[in-house]
Amino acid sequence: MKSASDTAAASPAERAAWLRAEIERHNRLYYVEAETEISDVDFDALVRELEDLEAAHPELATEDSPTRKVWGEPLAGFANVQHRVPMLSIRNTYNEAEVRKFDQDVRKGVGDEPVRYVVELKMDGVAMSMTFTNGVYTAAATRGDGTTGDDVTQNIATLRDLPKQLKDAPAGTVEVRGEVFMERAELDRLNVLREAAGEEPYRNPRNTTAGTLKLLDPAQVAKRHLRLFVYEMVPVDFKKPGTHQDTLKTLAAWGLPVNDHFTVCDSIEEVLALCDSWQTKRFDLPYETDGLVVKVDKEEQRAKLGYTSKAPKWVMAYKFPAEVRRTRLNDIVFQVGKSGVVTPVAELEPVPLAGTIVKRATLHNFEELRRKDLRKGDLVEVQKAGEIIPQVLGYVPEERPESAPAVEPPEACPSCGGALHQDPEGVFLRCLNLACPAQILGRLTHFASRGAMDIDGLGPAIIEQLVSRELVTTPVDLYALEADILAGLERMGEKSAANLVAAIEASKARPLARLLFGLGIRHVGTTTATALAREFKNMDALMAAKVDDLEAVDDVGPIVASSVADFFDTEANRALVETLRMAGLNMEQPVETVASDGPLTGKTLVVTGTLEGMTRDEMHEAIQRAGGKVASSVSKKTDYLVAGEKAGSKLDKAEKLGVTVLTEQEILAMLEGGA
Ligand code: IVH
Repeated sequence: MKSASDTAAASPAERAAWLRAEIERHNRLYYVEAETEISDVDFDALVRELEDLEAAHPELATEDSPTRKVWGEPLAGFANVQHRVPMLSIRNTYNEAEVRKFDQDVRKGVGDEPVRYVVELKMDGVAMSMTFTNGVYTAAATRGDGTTGDDVTQNIATLRDLPKQLKDAPAGTVEVRGEVFMERAELDRLNVLREAAGEEPYRNPRNTTAGTLKLLDPAQVAKRHLRLFVYEMVPVDFKKPGTHQDTLKTLAAWGLPVNDHFTVCDSIEEVLALCDSWQTKRFDLPYETDGLVVKVDKEEQRAKLGYTSKAPKWVMAYKFPAEVRRTRLNDIVFQVGKSGVVTPVAELEPVPLAGTIVKRATLHNFEELRRKDLRKGDLVEVQKAGEIIPQVLGYVPEERPESAPAVEPPEACPSCGGALHQDPEGVFLRCLNLACPAQILGRLTHFASRGAMDIDGLGPAIIEQLVSRELVTTPVDLYALEADILAGLERMGEKSAANLVAAIEASKARPLARLLFGLGIRHVGTTTATALAREFKNMDALMAAKVDDLEAVDDVGPIVASSVADFFDTEANRALVETLRMAGLNMEQPVETVASDGPLTGKTLVVTGTLEGMTRDEMHEAIQRAGGKVASSVSKKTDYLVAGEKAGSKLDKAEKLGVTVLTEQEILAMLEGGA
């Protein structure tokens, strides 16, 4: 794909084609993969640019342009449902003038009679349609492409907010529409569980909601407490109330959850004032909102206004700009990671931003720091990227303190004082001293982590104490720790000290693959570590391997091969391995029992996304026990891609190459020999 700047100067036709492809790609990421790469503001800017281009050059407008259609694709795995009445999207703006223009158009459209608006919160969740027949809940469907959605009746049935029987039920069939969402606190609760299980935390409530609705097992959906607000009614067998206010009242009277933060406004001035007041108030809500929805109240007027191919003319969303706050940059500190990379980090005067208190923000690298020219004491503007990760946008020039020198990259490692080297690959500065305390801390934390030696109870807080008391510098020192020494650490009793000693002892038996991963060799993740361990079977054979031997292993390319060879060529690393061996660590990879006649014998699989029932490592092990081979990237040689929740680019690639994609349920069935 060309970059935006490549086509910015191109012909209108080229630019329009690029915009279309880019918008489609982001739509796909958002709707199908529940993943986002760019902010709503940036996305809307792309759509806006394409709309303007198509307006200026009508000959460029195509039938299937993303400016004309509602996006979203039904998922494989759920039955398709045809919507009785299409589920349209709504026009968006960030701009006050456009809200005024909307009001003018509405007034003109209804023949200059008074117009009343109902202004609701725009919930940042997933649109849902629910059907009730004679008051009984019978079906639910996602929006999908607006015409056809996914049948998620069972999943939605698990929502506690949804009554299964309406009060004072109307006779006949009625569809109600609304938004399924997740509260921030629920996301936090799920993330505590995930982190305890060593899994990546979920990034935001909307994506997690979309991912949850994709689960094929309603019992799993029930475990994540999704919520619901309804805001529209599509009766099949009776007439709708005459105003939207009455529609909301009726929905509430039936026992459905209606968000009571809606306001009736008699003028567009009132609407705009209300929008202003929600800009910051919205962060006090327990859920995320991304704007306000301004709806014409009277049904009669709505009917007069009608629809475009994509959206009703009687509704407009006024979206909140990303919240930007100013705060002082108290300091810029340098952090050293496990591989020695030094990262500049902004330490900020704590500031509330988009629902949390922000104190730090990574500046990524020294190139970025130089570009932004941030200085200690600056007043800076911060915002959250994708509403999650704090980001320093820049400084306010007139507020710069008089004597604020530019921040230079450190000349020596801030942790050990050792020399720093510019990374040949780019913009990074790296400390090469293996004895650097910050690196030691990072390496030991990695060694003990769940995917590596899995030493229960040995987290960063304990390791930091061990390192600062110089009780531990290399992994082998862990194996010499005694309970009475550990019991002297902060937050450690005798019992937990004894448990920790036992956990350290137990880790000696881990298979070679885990030890290899735990050593933190550059470019060696769990999959590569497993491939190497399976191939060479023991540490000696691996250490003796030449670059060519390493490259011959499936899934190992030249960069990984030379990284492994370099690691074992280094005297200190060889010595570390020898001391670990003397401490009694296992250096072998157990021979897998099912190899020649398992259900997956001869098959190569790649696992991607988040799995529900097990970690990815556990899935890898299960596949290997069934005789299958696990690779880390999708190629023509891949037989199956196992795609969990939030599968991203690997899924795209598999689809492109025609590789069969399996859901978690399908692979589990195969592992049991069921397919
Ligand atoms: S009304 C035809 N009201 O925003 C009008 N939509 O970007 C139907 N949304 O698809 C939508 N809160 O998923 C409406 N109070 C609200 C809303 C709302 C969130 C979502 C909905 C819609 C999307 C459009």
